[in-house]
Amino acid sequence: MDMPITGDDSLEAIDRHGLLHPFTNLRGHAEGTLGGPRIITGGQGVRITDQHGKTYIDGFAGLYCVNIGYGRTEVAEAIYEQAKKLAYYHAYAGHSNEPAIRLTGRLLRMAPGKMSKVFYGLSGSDANETQVKLVWYYNNALGRPEKKKIISRHRGYHGGSVMSGSLTGLPVFHQAFDLPVKPVLHTSTPHYYWQHEPGESEAGFARRCADELEAMILAEGPETVAAFIGEPVLGTGGIIPPPAGYWPAIQAVLKKYDVLMIADEVVCGFGRIGTDFGCQAYGIEPDMVTVAKGLTSAYAPLSAALVSEPVWEVLQQGSDKLGTFAHGYTYSAHPIGAAAALANLDIVEGEDLAGNARDTGGYLQERLQAAFADHPLVGEVRGIGLLAAIEFVADKPSKTRFDPGLKVGAKVSAACLEEGLIARAMPHGDILGFAPPLVISRADVDDVVARTERAIARVTETLAKEGVLTAA
Ligand SMILES: Cc1ncc(COP(=O)(O)O)c(C=O)c1O
Repeated sequence: MDMPITGDDSLEAIDRHGLLHPFTNLRGHAEGTLGGPRIITGGQGVRITDQHGKTYIDGFAGLYCVNIGYGRTEVAEAIYEQAKKLAYYHAYAGHSNEPAIRLTGRLLRMAPGKMSKVFYGLSGSDANETQVKLVWYYNNALGRPEKKKIISRHRGYHGGSVMSGSLTGLPVFHQAFDLPVKPVLHTSTPHYYWQHEPGESEAGFARRCADELEAMILAEGPETVAAFIGEPVLGTGGIIPPPAGYWPAIQAVLKKYDVLMIADEVVCGFGRIGTDFGCQAYGIEPDMVTVAKGLTSAYAPLSAALVSEPVWEVLQQGSDKLGTFAHGYTYSAHPIGAAAALANLDIVEGEDLAGNARDTGGYLQERLQAAFADHPLVGEVRGIGLLAAIEFVADKPSKTRFDPGLKVGAKVSAACLEEGLIARAMPHGDILGFAPPLVISRADVDDVVARTERAIARVTETLAKEGVLTAA
């Protein structure tokens, strides 16, 4: 270790002293009252190990991104070979590199809809930021300077930067940061369990969501609304698959008012829900597609904003009128990221991980339903493929939520951790999320479910002892 900076040169002390962690209570971490840092030292397959040698099943694939699992030397070697040959050159002013070119061809063949061009970034947030700039550039090129508003959804998740954090529809991402910025609006969350009216069918509820969207566009003025962004399955907002008929109804409204559809495939893309992309599962015909995470399985940072041919046509004319497309990052089209993506996609396609997400994912959904759907503290078990959630309620028949102060979701997640399982407490509601690596086996799924059962039983017992249960 270099110079001790805290008087204690342990990794833990230096981390608490100097590392500002994302999504972490700042004082709690710095003062060590949260017990962190948990330093992850290694991983193999679906398992990771911490600094104390404790092994966990990673039921969330990092942040739903390590889709091929940990320790795949094929990807490590591709990164090494590329770094030796050419670690970096920029892509400005028409410069390029071989892995980025090869990846572009491959992405355009794989992508949903009729994508025509790819712009590379490093994160889902910056790719969505790029999408918004492309939409604005597009409307400027068309001579429609008023058509700039972007509609997202309450509980949508699109990143944490100023624009992508504004698109994100979760209050915790806005409150302390003066967000959302002005041209962003949020429409309703398509969550049938909580939002449907008595007797309303899924299709009827989907229709109502589309009607609400239409009313919003009309109230704002269609000439001011440029694009709609949505995840095929809402992810961080609670892992919420759409109700039947939702996407066709939404897309009909968007087409009617000439509003572009941006599909945020950062979580669903590359097999997570059992199809190559979420768009294919729900018949979404996007104008633009955002990918990140599963593109490299997070072995290197890389994201992409894809645009369809009709959008490209306008962008192209735009550069005649508006001059150089003045947008980009030092690391756009980074050769190491692209090399990692190519090796990762060899595994994703070669091992048919979308197929495993369908098959083993189907098994995960069945096992979770069988184990928890009738549990008195579980309101809903939901999901598709290898993306699933359990939502806890204080009273099942009346659908009453727990007092948020009880932090029931976080308690279950912590109990899972004690059982050696990482299952994520989602940030909005008492929701436990699962998104394991796509290489997970049925035996591992059994293990995940058994550990979750023990964790939920323990938390239920504690809540009962504390006298906070009305049911159970
Ligand atoms: C759907 C979706 N879009 C965008 C992002 C932002 O990606 P990043 O954290 O790489 O900026 C995320 C991250 O979880 C996401 O789930």
